[in-house]
Amino acid sequence: MPVRASSADRFHVDSSGIGQTDDVTDSVGPDPQYELFADEFLDHAREGLYNAHYDRPACLRLLGEVAGRTVLDVACGPGLYAEELVGRGARVIGLDQSPRMVQLCRQRVPSGEFRVHDLADRLHWLPDDSVDLVLFALGLEYVDDRTSTLRELRRVLRPDGALVLSRLHPTGDWLRHGGSYFDVRIVEETWSRGWQVRYWLAPLERTCEELHEAGFLIERLVEPRPTAEAAHVDRDRYERLLREPIGFLAIRALPAPWR
Ligand SMILES: C[S@@+](CC[C@H](N)C(=O)[O-])C[C@H]1O[C@@H](n2cnc3c(N)ncnc32)[C@H](O)[C@@H]1O
Repeated sequence: MPVRASSADRFHVDSSGIGQTDDVTDSVGPDPQYELFADEFLDHAREGLYNAHYDRPACLRLLGEVAGRTVLDVACGPGLYAEELVGRGARVIGLDQSPRMVQLCRQRVPSGEFRVHDLADRLHWLPDDSVDLVLFALGLEYVDDRTSTLRELRRVLRPDGALVLSRLHPTGDWLRHGGSYFDVRIVEETWSRGWQVRYWLAPLERTCEELHEAGFLIERLVEPRPTAEAAHVDRDRYERLLREPIGFLAIRALPAPWR
């Protein structure tokens, strides 16, 4: 659970009514936070309610048919998505900032191609229009220049491809942290297993703007509900997630044809 929130950056609404961020001086930075608890994350996310019965089913549904397609798994973590995707016939290229996560991926999915990569850097090792689908699950929050990263994902995506991303639900973030819902700011939390994480809070509008600025059109936005199996994992959480927007949301976006 959260213990501390820090530093708000300025977010204002311009004359068009669209929010803009300026004077952002804070950053999550290049430290691979998940390196310290990569193995524990694998243990937690393999069968845990939030990942196995809530986020993964939603994103996999949004990705659709993957057989024979090349999927770029961005912030791939320990390879749980990659395993599902390869099982469904996809070719997977994965990247993560944490070397231990990449090691876990290579062990779990030997047919995948994984590399250590910080999303602050350009994907110089991938040509334009080289992947059919991009999956970016639960990683956007850790990226400082999200628009540049999304622009780079659009560059490597084929024009007829799609990006599927999930992020913490901004309503849940705001309920936990209070303050202004519209502030774009960094928070630090200590999660239940003692994991310390530092990441960006941003209103839904900001994520939509970043996708727009990067040249994407939002096709679908989903506020997932947990699957029925989640009730057997943790009935209280399952019932709360059926009622309250305190988990994640998922978006399917297409490259805008005019960019
Ligand atoms: C919550 S985990 C999600 C893992 C995986 N996508 C999943 O859903 O199972 C977040 C992942 O983002 C990775 N990550 C965080 N910041 C990153 C960055 N700047 N570049 C690349 N990966 C990053 C972390 O190392 C971690 O593996």
